[in-house]
Amino acid sequence: MKDRLLQEIAVLRREAEAELAAVPDTSAAEACRVKYLGRQGLVTSILKSLKDLSPEERPEVGREINIAKEILESKLADLRERLKHAELERSVAAQRLDITLPGRRTKRGKRHPLRQTTREILQIFTDMGFSVHRGPEIETDYYNFEALGVPADHPARDMQDTFYVEGGYLLRTHTSPVQIHVMENQRPPICAVFPGAVYRRDNDVSHSPMFHQVEGLMVDRNISMRDLKGVLSTFCHRMFGSGVGVRFRPSYFPFTEPSAEVDIQCVICGGSGCRVCKQSGWLEILGCGMVDPVVFEKVKVDTKKWSGFAFGMGVERIAMLKYAINDIRLFYENDMRFLEQF
Ligand code: PHE
Repeated sequence: MKDRLLQEIAVLRREAEAELAAVPDTSAAEACRVKYLGRQGLVTSILKSLKDLSPEERPEVGREINIAKEILESKLADLRERLKHAELERSVAAQRLDITLPGRRTKRGKRHPLRQTTREILQIFTDMGFSVHRGPEIETDYYNFEALGVPADHPARDMQDTFYVEGGYLLRTHTSPVQIHVMENQRPPICAVFPGAVYRRDNDVSHSPMFHQVEGLMVDRNISMRDLKGVLSTFCHRMFGSGVGVRFRPSYFPFTEPSAEVDIQCVICGGSGCRVCKQSGWLEILGCGMVDPVVFEKVKVDTKKWSGFAFGMGVERIAMLKYAINDIRLFYENDMRFLEQF
């Protein structure tokens, strides 16, 4: 019995070592481990049969099988390490990773140029102490026209072609109705700007049926045309550069008296005359004026105590002049080649 076992152990060692030497990969190595060292393995079964030996025979056989087991275990561990390394190298080589390739850029979102321009405009006014309010885009005839001095048969209604919606409502044609909401809800002094979308039946390279305005209103004691000129000149200089020429030209709006339009020196030709400024050297950028007493009466602001000025500007127009954009539709197409330039 003892000699047979010693014989078996010797054979097992020889065979196991030969087998290990020929193992091609980690899964074959694992099969080999199971065959010899697993719970049903050959080494394990010899260990189990030790109990059938006499106490005198047991130590010698026990020592032999333990030596065989340790040698096998350590060879297997070495082998597994080597195979794992070789397999990693093979898979890296197979992937052919080219570390010289340029990386893929992640694109960063940016604010839309109109939003950037609106923010810039609002920043200039909030720096001067104006607060920001927003009014509704769907309006009644009263707020959009009537309260602003434009009764039903007034010819000034033709100045802006209106979109009417169900229920006697309309899409506001300008941000001026927000003046009325604010003065109804808040007593003077008032110093605020109102940004937002407006709508007109208009569509060509410089007109869009939906566009954006920033309205402003300042009502306080002793507000005069000087305040209007100071605030709006400051705005133009901050928006277009301190060197730009600014002029106030008499105009007409039903809700301001006197009224003016503000021009800046042409940003394209610098004032010498070009196609953009129609050879005049000047570009109109906003409408303004002293709040008409007719408007103050509607909102019950005492004209003996208070006076004020209002202004309104188109955000698209300002952005087009600032960035030399010649077609308003570019703002709404969301073409990445356009948007990425800002
Ligand atoms: N609401 C006018 C427009 O849309 C602009 C304006 C606003 C003019 C305030 C004077 C005062 O053309």
